[in-house]
Amino acid sequence: MKVTIVGAGAVGASCAEYVAIKDFASEVVILDIKDGLAEGKAMDLMQTASLNGFDTKIKGTTNDYSTTANSDVAVITSGIPRKPGMTREELIGINAGIVKEVSANLIKHSPNVTIIVVSNPMDTMTYLVHKTTGLPKNKIIGMGGALDSARFKYRLSEALDCPTSDVDGMVIGGHSDTGMVPLTRLATRNSVPVSAFLSEERLNKVSEDTKVGGATLTKLLGTSAWYAPGAAVSGLVQAIACDQKKMFPCSAMLEGEYGLNDLCIGVPAIIGKDGLEKIVEIELDDKEKAKIKESAEGVKKTNGLLEL
Ligand code: LAC
Repeated sequence: MKVTIVGAGAVGASCAEYVAIKDFASEVVILDIKDGLAEGKAMDLMQTASLNGFDTKIKGTTNDYSTTANSDVAVITSGIPRKPGMTREELIGINAGIVKEVSANLIKHSPNVTIIVVSNPMDTMTYLVHKTTGLPKNKIIGMGGALDSARFKYRLSEALDCPTSDVDGMVIGGHSDTGMVPLTRLATRNSVPVSAFLSEERLNKVSEDTKVGGATLTKLLGTSAWYAPGAAVSGLVQAIACDQKKMFPCSAMLEGEYGLNDLCIGVPAIIGKDGLEKIVEIELDDKEKAKIKESAEGVKKTNGLLEL
């Protein structure tokens, strides 16, 4: 299994680190346009191999896509990150051009690659890759829901004052401050609905804190987060590499599922060797249906800014 990560910034490097530490890939290539940056991060990470006990070979390259040839999975993290006070949507102008060029270059050298899109605004960038590359629909996955769900579980465990391993839950909808739909009704602590432990008011706070999870970190860090995004991507890469058939909410191209068409938005999906193998349609209540519809309208509005 060969994995390429485009972008040697904080998210790309953290993703490379988590993939390597989990030790399921033979090779990870990090590519960046900045001279020497990917080579430096790759070398630094390789020097952790004997310390952290992994055998994955990590290589860096300055924009030479031939090094990425025959990758099974490629992760696109390139583009500019948010600064405090910015929305993900404001990044569209710069990032759309970058994501389009990067995906074309990747496919030229790895025609069978599965692409995971991380660059923001993520749902719209995923849609762009669908519209411009001609890759089959199962081979393009937007990473958002896995991250947002991890943040949801963190906020739930905080509210419940329990370990995160006690908690299960999922966030669907757009990967934006207003578009996320944390499914509090379905979240559980060891199979018991969280509503048995938390008031509606506390659950609303959990939802609101989850939705601004990225913005909260951007404010604290001065740029967007990287550990949880990197870990979430590595989970998707592992599910593909190890054919886990694991369920993650991911940004998927919808053709009628959830009553939505011609957009990418976060829905539960099965991830395995064929990429996004199946969209899982779960029963939503009327409130959740209304929220996902509103979220989809927001994503479509952002998609409308693309020059396709
Ligand atoms: C975040 C970025 C990766 O939510 O969108 O941290």
